[in-house]
Amino acid sequence: NKVLAVLAVSSVAMMGLSACGGDAGTESTKVLKVAFNQNASHPQAVAITELSDKLKEATDGAFELELFPDEQLGSQAETLELVQSGAVDMAIVAGPLLEAFNPDFSVLNLPYVYDSPEHQMSVLNDPEITGELFDSLETSESISIVGAYHGGVRNVYTGAPVETPEDLAGQKIRIISSDTNVAMLGMMGGVGTPMPQGDVYTAIQSGVLDGAENNELIYADLAHAEIAKHYSYTKHLMIPDYFVANPTVMAAFSDEQREALETLFAESVDSELASFDSKVSEAKAKAEAAGATFHEADVEAFREAVTPLHEDKVNNDVTKAIFEKIDAAR
Ligand code: GCU
Repeated sequence: NKVLAVLAVSSVAMMGLSACGGDAGTESTKVLKVAFNQNASHPQAVAITELSDKLKEATDGAFELELFPDEQLGSQAETLELVQSGAVDMAIVAGPLLEAFNPDFSVLNLPYVYDSPEHQMSVLNDPEITGELFDSLETSESISIVGAYHGGVRNVYTGAPVETPEDLAGQKIRIISSDTNVAMLGMMGGVGTPMPQGDVYTAIQSGVLDGAENNELIYADLAHAEIAKHYSYTKHLMIPDYFVANPTVMAAFSDEQREALETLFAESVDSELASFDSKVSEAKAKAEAAGATFHEADVEAFREAVTPLHEDKVNNDVTKAIFEKIDAAR
């Protein structure tokens, strides 16, 4: 088992470190393992690495973070389970996965709900808006949410340009697993097919899928651009990527250390967002070099098609209150 092997190797490495002492002040450093499903140059990976350095300094060497990129510890759903059991300390997971534990999270994953990445981040990291929802997973599910990163704007890619929902008729499009996403892709005209990110390339290549929906980074970095050459700007979704931790890990932080983590995390959210656009430009150039083309789509037609989903999912006091606050934050 690849995951256990990685975990075993890293704990041996840690034992080695504490056995030989190391630099003064690092002897008792707790190295928190962070599972990540994308590559080490992704803006979130860079943000976590910076956060680790600053956290180590702010806590006088008590904590640092060690990133395991490229699905080394498993798919996002698998790493979420490892965080819940405590086998892995932390992970970055896409918002739709949390709907399985509390369907109210759906309100933060709806298509066309945010005007801009800045709007999205101001909503997600405002404890007045999301605090109670985030806390809801702590005791019952053993998931602490430290906060949320921007994860790009998602668009559709297949073997042909997509301009309107009619163009997606009969097309199997990979989505991140959630009821909301299945319903959304259906309303967009296609057939939503849940699958872990790492399986998508082979599935498109073998014809199991006709395409997928994601940001430009994934499209280029996972070489999807080679096998689904038309990327169409439906701009339907901005999903949160949550930085989650096992609650026992968080309990090891003193109040002061926790405060430092929160402040530094907020800084890392800003720097991640600031670097996203240039990564998108790089990714587009890379995808074009691989033979891909980018197209405008009829965004209004897609927006209209998915509107009923807002009514379906904003269906109780919790989601209504959050939805109103999202609106007010525009
Ligand atoms: C985005 C998102 C990831 C997610 C991925 C996916 O890249 O940032 O968290 O895993 O999409 O589609 O699976």
